[in-house]
Amino acid sequence: MEKREISNRDDIVLLVDSFYDKVKADDLIGFIFNDVAKVNWQRHLPIMYDFWEGLLLDGGNYKGNVMDPHFKLNKLIPLEPAFFDRWLQLFEATIAEHFTGEKATLAVTRARSIKGIMLFKMDQVNRPGTDKQIPLVNPGNKQ
Ligand code: HEM
Repeated sequence: MEKREISNRDDIVLLVDSFYDKVKADDLIGFIFNDVAKVNWQRHLPIMYDFWEGLLLDGGNYKGNVMDPHFKLNKLIPLEPAFFDRWLQLFEATIAEHFTGEKATLAVTRARSIKGIMLFKMDQVNRPGTDKQIPLVNPGNKQ
């Protein structure tokens, strides 16, 4: 398939749909979405379109709180570094498969950064007292 730039809402929809197709089918993290959180995809996907449109194209109108659902989920199943690594791996694979250009690079940079921050925050909850072992400078670059 020819790779394209991320330039409009349709591209965002392709990105998000392809990514969650991988997530749902994944042997390591699929069950978290399918069986633990039992995600309502009809509801969740439009939220994700807005989220990524906001990050990449300055549209989308996302007004949620990114961390909240993950803290709640983390109480049902501790969100381990390995889960985050797989999440990012699938995201990067989705980008590489479909997209090219500046926004594609930006999507990966943003995903890495938020993943780093989210993992750092989950670690503070899951392993209190160990946070000083994680470099505080630019946690977004930590994978
Ligand atoms: C192990 C990693 C992750 C898991 C298992 C996970 C799982 C989930 C689940 C189950 C939801 C709630 C869906 C629902 O029922 O509405 C959710 C929401 C969301 N996730 Fe993640 N997530 C992960 C990492 C990330 C990362 C790294 C990002 C950002 C780059 C992200 C962005 C979001 C956003 C924006 C929402 C919607 C929040 C809202 O409702 O406003 N997630 N995630």
